[in-house]
Amino acid sequence: MRKPFVAGNWKMHGSKAFILNLVTGLNSRAGELEGVDVAICPPSLYIDFTKRTLSTGVIALGAQNMAEEPHQGAFTGEGSASMLKDLGCRYVILGHSERRAIYGETDSEIANKVQVALDAGLTPIFCVGETLQERESGVMKSVISTQLEAVLSTVGIAAFSSIVIAYEPVWAIGTGVTATPEQAQEVHAFIRSKLAELDPVIAEGVVIQYGGSVKPGNAKELFGQPDIDGGLIGGASLDADDFIAICKAAEI
Ligand code: PGA
Repeated sequence: MRKPFVAGNWKMHGSKAFILNLVTGLNSRAGELEGVDVAICPPSLYIDFTKRTLSTGVIALGAQNMAEEPHQGAFTGEGSASMLKDLGCRYVILGHSERRAIYGETDSEIANKVQVALDAGLTPIFCVGETLQERESGVMKSVISTQLEAVLSTVGIAAFSSIVIAYEPVWAIGTGVTATPEQAQEVHAFIRSKLAELDPVIAEGVVIQYGGSVKPGNAKELFGQPDIDGGLIGGASLDADDFIAICKAAEI
């Protein structure tokens, strides 16, 4: 039985005042959470502030990105996996479509980052997903297979017992357009079947989150699908009540 997992991706939002208000709201309602793992991923600059503001052990911390380089050194502007670990992070989002599209991150860089994160003891939240054009031109499954295989060939199937996958159709991110539960389930089942070709036991245990315009009003139906094990939440994770409502919708 997979335990559902909901993570909030704050992206580049917030200030100390905003985070104090948001985390105070989360602290006051964290006691309601049961049967679901929950994490929040603030901008790296605010991870430490967020950690000091969190008064509950129920909500874990994650980062949104990290350096590909495993060792410290002359890498101006970068932050390493071990630094995230030192700050108290348990998770790191890797391969988000915004990193791929805006910053040109390649499959091979992402695969290396997944390995570096694992080596540092972080759990990667590894994102895959197709654009609208790829979906409409019928190459959705091959795009997702390529993204998956890049990581599989670097870290191997066994490592997927320590990796969370997030399926995020690019056309559903921040657009208010959500994949229907059936559309999402089809891709989640496809991802699991690709992993099952290599190791059915590991495939069965991998948590696969859905991300893309998840809101309190659509979360329950999405999370009710057999292969959807929670969500990666952008916009709605910036509101404590909405985020808690989404977490509660994933509870088993
Ligand atoms: P959204 O973002 O919930 O705002 O669509 C999800 C994500 O990009 O992780």
